[in-house]
Amino acid sequence: MNDELSEQLKIETHWQEEEYYQPPASFVAQANLLDGSIYERFCLENFPEYYKEFGQMLDWEKPWDVLFDSSNPPFWRWFVGGRLNAAYNCIDRHLAENKNKTALYFVPEPEDERIEAVTYQDLFVRVNEVAALLRDHFGLKKGDRVTIHMPMVIDLPVTMLACARLGVIHSMVYGGFSAQACADRMVDADSSVLVTMDGYWRDGKWLDQKEKADQAVEAADKEGHRVNKVLVWQRYPAQYKSASQIVEGRDVIVNDLLRQYRGSQVAPESMLGEDTLFLMYTSGSTGKPKAAQHSIGGYLSYVTAMSKYILDIQPKDVYWCMADIGWITGHSFIVYGPLSLGASSVVYEGSPTCPDAGRPWRISERLGVNILHTSPTAIRSLRKLGPDEPAKYNYNYKLMVTVGEPIEPEVWRWYYNTVGNGQAAVVDTYWQTENGGFLCSTVPALKPMKPGSTGPGVPGIHPVIYDDEGKEVPAGSGRGGNLCIKNPWPGIMLGIWGDPDRYVNTYYARVCKNPNSKDWRDWPYFTGDGAMLAKDGYFRVLGRIDDVINVAGHRLGTKEIESAALKVMQVAEAAVIAAHDDIKGVIPEVYVVLQPGVTPSKEVKTVVVDAIVKEIGPIARPREVWIVPDLPKTRSGKIMRRVLASISNRSDLGDLTSLANSEVVENIRKMVQD
Ligand code: PRX
Repeated sequence: MNDELSEQLKIETHWQEEEYYQPPASFVAQANLLDGSIYERFCLENFPEYYKEFGQMLDWEKPWDVLFDSSNPPFWRWFVGGRLNAAYNCIDRHLAENKNKTALYFVPEPEDERIEAVTYQDLFVRVNEVAALLRDHFGLKKGDRVTIHMPMVIDLPVTMLACARLGVIHSMVYGGFSAQACADRMVDADSSVLVTMDGYWRDGKWLDQKEKADQAVEAADKEGHRVNKVLVWQRYPAQYKSASQIVEGRDVIVNDLLRQYRGSQVAPESMLGEDTLFLMYTSGSTGKPKAAQHSIGGYLSYVTAMSKYILDIQPKDVYWCMADIGWITGHSFIVYGPLSLGASSVVYEGSPTCPDAGRPWRISERLGVNILHTSPTAIRSLRKLGPDEPAKYNYNYKLMVTVGEPIEPEVWRWYYNTVGNGQAAVVDTYWQTENGGFLCSTVPALKPMKPGSTGPGVPGIHPVIYDDEGKEVPAGSGRGGNLCIKNPWPGIMLGIWGDPDRYVNTYYARVCKNPNSKDWRDWPYFTGDGAMLAKDGYFRVLGRIDDVINVAGHRLGTKEIESAALKVMQVAEAAVIAAHDDIKGVIPEVYVVLQPGVTPSKEVKTVVVDAIVKEIGPIARPREVWIVPDLPKTRSGKIMRRVLASISNRSDLGDLTSLANSEVVENIRKMVQD
């Protein structure tokens, strides 16, 4: 077992079993999934047949020929030969019965601005007009890649769905990410069209987004990649609110151009089930971000089924997921899943604590939100800033979701008791960008909740814990190990964009039972997370076993942050570790060794912080930069981040015998802790 995991397991031994909470009777009485036999139906022996049920939740232009093609492991293909369109499934199919129903609510951050309700009919019109513009003005067609770097506004899902309608692959880069991050992703995806917005509100401040587009195009250019077109949406139509100039011939104001496409309609492109819907970048341990490539049929059927069975979304519900659409949670569970089910989904522009920690509860009261989907980070900050706020508002949740990182049991209890008033079922959904939708969670009406544990595999997913020799760690053993999934599922990515070897090496090679085998049973999926399995079949996720830091639910590669620090000339070496933080869970801290002759100073620290923020974005902003004489290293020269992490977190330093230079440790410890 590697160092980091065993370190986490040490913490683990102090963990105690939590009490169960039964789902509220009022929830059970109305739940979508009440039939406990689903677990038997979705047993491993019935794989892959049971996933037909998921496929049947979609409208297909032509039924699939082959449900599951495993002829080229681990490049699984689902619903092969079937034809469909994602935008059609998220919009057109609801028009006959529900065209006047609200599809999306837009809640601007400034509280005095009007909330906008977009019906399915409105959405149909807008998506068609944008699709016509993309096709006719920019010549975009099936298979092209478009990069979207936008904030949380309705024009964002409209742009995504317009791409989907044309069979264009969208690659969304989280709006808060830096220009450089956007550039790197445009280069990797080889996309020559960038869609952005002039600016937006965040935490009470107006942020200029278009400025970043200019820098991103320039940065991509330096990497030898040309971005021909920048499409700029206006946050306030007919007003341009960015300091950056419009570049003639390159930039287009979408809102202006759209007038030419009024009332245009575009027939949904007939796509194969196994075609690509979008790319979503995620950090890896080896620096360069990688794009999970998600399919149309498999992905959409999976998120639809998860939205129905785990999120319990029903036609009468108003559902609000507070994630950003720039992350997979937003793609799957603000846009594709809820819209595929014909639900009303809320898009909120701003920060959950703006202008105060009562905001989410006011939005919920105002819109009648009854399903809330958020992360432990948001819950922690709402609890810290306004522990008694929820009680002041009159809203009623039937279900609440937590996702993105492990939730501490006491934070879970505040969520359940104070936010949910003890009346809502809570699901702790565990999954990853690469997975499309949930891997583990309780089915809310069928299983009790257990604070801090995600639950068993969702129906159809068969998780297992392997030790480092590949032996199954039995339930209730109290031992942690590598969390893996025994079977493929429709939501799993098609691969890593442009890098098939990385897909195989990262997610399968370590636990593959026989690389020559054509049998899916020999190819379990390696999540890269450490976990423990309790006797009751519930998993408790311990965190990443590789060197990826999960800050506030956002995955950042330590290597990426380190290489940003190393761009500073004065820095010779850098090591990034995850320091525990009350609000964010973890936050990066950076240890740097300076080049010979450079004097340590506050200025150098600031330059390092700035470099990281510029390269990656403000979420990677380190809490502290420590200038140290040397980094602890093994004899083979591997930096022992674990030791630095223990210093930052004031925990036991553990075994130092493998260090080549153990004398530096005491030095660093004094500097940091005294
Ligand atoms: O370490 C796990 C953690 O977040 C990682 C996936 O991050 P990302 O791809 O950004 O997707 C986030 C949204 C799904 C996982 O490898 N993680 C996610 N959900 C949970 C979690 N850890 C514990 N409990 C969860 N519910």
